[in-house]
Amino acid sequence: MDETRRLTSLVNDVLDISKLESDIERMTAARFNLTRSIGETAERVQKLLKSDGFKIVFNYDGDVYVNADETKIGRAFYNLLVNAVNYSDDSRLITISQTLSKNHARISVTDNGEGIAKDDLPFIWDRYYKSGKNHKRAVTGTGLGLSIVKKIIETHGGNYGVESDVGKGSTFWFEVDIE
Ligand SMILES: Nc1ncnc2c1ncn2[C@@H]1O[C@H](COP(=O)(O)OP(=O)(O)OP(=O)(O)O)[C@@H](O)[C@H]1O
Ligand SMILES: [Mg+2]
Repeated sequence: MDETRRLTSLVNDVLDISKLESDIERMTAARFNLTRSIGETAERVQKLLKSDGFKIVFNYDGDVYVNADETKIGRAFYNLLVNAVNYSDDSRLITISQTLSKNHARISVTDNGEGIAKDDLPFIWDRYYKSGKNHKRAVTGTGLGLSIVKKIIETHGGNYGVESDVGKGSTFWFEVDIE
């Protein structure tokens, strides 16, 4: 069963990324409530993981509307959230923030997990790249999640990035233009 799940997820990721590549001009941008969309996904994942002791907190200051592809932005956020879950430590606390500047909204996902070595940082956004460490939780990923995030945010013309300290945790973020 586990292997089937793993293969299904691999196939879906590969399909996702080839679809994204052929789909770039066919992004369907529409106005939507980014805050609500992020909040709903966070709540859904929180419900699923509550019994495992995860606490997912979302800090935001009012609702923000953006003109973007809701499904794809949702996918990018989901990939960051799943990573935070997979690579977090025993505190199992994940903090999501929405911060605003003049032109864009930034969504950040922070975990108190193992962090990422400086040498690995430039490569984690590449396809199939996984840092060679042993992870705390059994992680069966294929190394596609962040390359999908990168593709989606670049397609939207937004910025993305990460700050990370080994042993302390990571904050992954991306920005979407405000309407
Ligand atoms: N929050 C995080 N904390 C620590 N390391 C991380 C975090 N997010 C990503 N990484 C590192 O970056 C690598 C690439 O992440 P990515 O999401 O692309 O792949 P994955 O999680 O291994 O697999 P997939 O997302 O395809 O299931 C991971 O294997 C891990 O080494
Ligand atoms: Mg991942």
